[in-house]
Amino acid sequence: MTFDLQAFLRRPLTIGGRSISGRLVLAPLSKLGNTAFRQVVREYGGYGLLFSEMCWARSVPCGNGHDLGGFMWRRDENLGEVVCQIFGSDPEAMGRAAQIIAGEDFFGVDLNFGCCVAAVCRKGCGAALLKTPRRAEAIVAAVRRATAIPLFVKFRTGWQDDPAAAVELARRFEGAGADALTFHPRVAPDRRTRPPRWEHIGAVKAAVGIPVFGNGEVLAADDCARMLRTTGCDGVALGRLALAQPWVFAAWTNGYQPPPGIYRECAERLLDLLAETYGPTVALRRFHRFAAYYTANFTFGHALYGRLCKAETPEAAKRILADFLDTAPQTIARPNMNRFR
Ligand SMILES: Cc1cc2nc3c(=O)[nH]c(=O)nc-3n(C[C@H](O)[C@H](O)[C@H](O)COP(=O)(O)O)c2cc1C
Repeated sequence: MTFDLQAFLRRPLTIGGRSISGRLVLAPLSKLGNTAFRQVVREYGGYGLLFSEMCWARSVPCGNGHDLGGFMWRRDENLGEVVCQIFGSDPEAMGRAAQIIAGEDFFGVDLNFGCCVAAVCRKGCGAALLKTPRRAEAIVAAVRRATAIPLFVKFRTGWQDDPAAAVELARRFEGAGADALTFHPRVAPDRRTRPPRWEHIGAVKAAVGIPVFGNGEVLAADDCARMLRTTGCDGVALGRLALAQPWVFAAWTNGYQPPPGIYRECAERLLDLLAETYGPTVALRRFHRFAAYYTANFTFGHALYGRLCKAETPEAAKRILADFLDTAPQTIARPNMNRFR
């Protein structure tokens, strides 16, 4: 039996009593899922939700514009389709942050229990919380008490490749009041070197009654259909592929056919929005990070990436990109994301 990916992705889903129109969502991406990038994705459409880059819970009370914490958005951004991700280790601080997020009319709040960057884990945040399930559960419960907006938890398998531990965590999160889970089935120290164990997504999905978004290594439409079909998960969160092809949501959900000029148009739009939002210096820094994934679309993308990293102004980056695209470079159907870890 064939699986109709488009029809599945267009099915609405209810999360914490609120409905979303589709099941393909943008995963949280630190320094990349910023308000400018979200605007680029928005202009193509086709997503169910956009997760923000992660925000340090204690910085959230400083308000919109505190760029270091990622808690930032354009004045015209519709936050009703954005889920704000926070990280922290103190249940009360996380609860306070969630209240502020709810007050700004975000769709929901997401708790980061998956980041394994050393500086985050050293503070007892992110994936470190998977070693202290009671504290993780206390955070979910505190955020639940603090706000009624949809509450998401994003987590990994844990620190050992043991699906039983992930299932136990998923049950705890549901019991403490989570409305949906995003599950990335990799162990915490693994920074995407080994393939994710999608079968663990099936185990987590079977253990809870709330929606589960599968995540990890979906780099083509076939992968997405296979993840949905084999795990029974309710939706899929795209990370790196969304950076390489911000129009992927529109392509898979609405049948959008990218025109020949898409690579230039999309990157130039992002550069303009980044410059408008952050000014040229920070814009360029953010664009370099983005370019690591974007250039993976091309056979000789690494050479383009090297050149883009040397660009000193957004205009110079645009010229480098235009010169490269004028050579009609060969594109890769399944971008090689593992060039950058
Ligand atoms: C550059 C980058 C930044 C990320 N930042 C976050 C983050 O802020 N919060 C989070 O929960 N996960 C973060 N992740 C993990 C992704 O959300 C996702 O789980 C991971 O990339 C696997 O999905 P993919 O194979 O679709 O990329 C990040 C990943 C990348 C590559």
